[in-house]
Amino acid sequence: MSETTFTPRVFSGIQPSGNLHLGNYLGALKRFVDWQAKDVETIYCMVDLHAITVWQDPADLKKSTRELCAGFIAAGLDPEQSILINQSQVPEHAQLAWVFNCVARMGWMQRMTQWKDKAGKNAQNASLGLFAYPALMAADILVYHATHVPVGEDQKQHLELTRDIAIKFNHDYGVNFFPETEPVIEGAGTRVMSLRDGTKKMSKSDPSDASRINLTDDADAIAKKIRKAKTDPDALPSEAKGLEERPEARNLVNIYAAMAEQSVDQVLADVGGKQFSEFKPMLADLAVAKMAPITTEMARLMQHQDEIDKILARGAERAREITAPILRKTYDIIGMVGPSSL
Ligand code: AMP
Ligand code: TRP
Repeated sequence: MSETTFTPRVFSGIQPSGNLHLGNYLGALKRFVDWQAKDVETIYCMVDLHAITVWQDPADLKKSTRELCAGFIAAGLDPEQSILINQSQVPEHAQLAWVFNCVARMGWMQRMTQWKDKAGKNAQNASLGLFAYPALMAADILVYHATHVPVGEDQKQHLELTRDIAIKFNHDYGVNFFPETEPVIEGAGTRVMSLRDGTKKMSKSDPSDASRINLTDDADAIAKKIRKAKTDPDALPSEAKGLEERPEARNLVNIYAAMAEQSVDQVLADVGGKQFSEFKPMLADLAVAKMAPITTEMARLMQHQDEIDKILARGAERAREITAPILRKTYDIIGMVGPSSL
């Protein structure tokens, strides 16, 4: 029943709850594509069950899920190479989440900063699902025995909780069944900040559209938002140290580095000493060159929704070949009688 080694397998997810933005692209999508190029199985998920932890208009949820799938493919994910799924189409996610609801402790959940931020002062009125959110996320990952999870910086705490759940399950049942998953939070793009305020994360919930670059923005909109991005009056430094205390400058240099696939030091070696009046057009050109083809391809794919739905149906089928036996084995370990009980 116990397993000691786990084959490397990558899993990650994004919520279909509105516009994808540059933060999602650099912090997540682009890195999903990088993993796909390696010799490892990759599974990427539209987490619609997570999205409904806060209200979603039903028609919008359908549109956002298909749009996210289009975004995955437009960014370079190949549905033959990677398994692309919509979470609710693979029922084992929600089934394992129930088990993890019984493993995780209330105190663990209460410490989650995302819960505290999202529930705010009105926690009594938040959904029970929002509180249990991280247990479902742990199930997403562990129902594949995934070992590596590329995410942005903001998901670090949830991944630590995923490890805690795996450790407690293994300990309580005396098995080595679930792997201790590695968070993969690397590179300049794991924390993209608002274009209007370098101390705030770029986010789909920011009321100012100028604060983010959406994956649905056209070339003109992208260039304009970068031209108008907040900066400070000084020239760019030639070393990363010089970006401390300059959040807006640091953010723009990070964005450049992530898109150009260079380190911050490499970028500064080239642009150190330049004024923003010179650097911003360089950044805008790079952003348009990288993002506009994705935007165009996404719009094209959205014209073929039946294709998208087929890809998701096929993804779910492939996924369930992995998840069904893992769930069944989990039930066996717990002592649930079923088709393959020992
Ligand atoms: P979400 O849209 O909240 O489901 O996030 C999907 C993925 O994008 C997760 O891996 C996040 O960590 C990542 N992400 C979201 N916002 C940012 C950001 N501003 N910078 C970097 N990564 C981000
Ligand atoms: N919570 C993640 C976010 O908001 C999305 C997510 C759900 C996820 N399940 C996951 C990410 C599993 C990685 C692995 O960004």
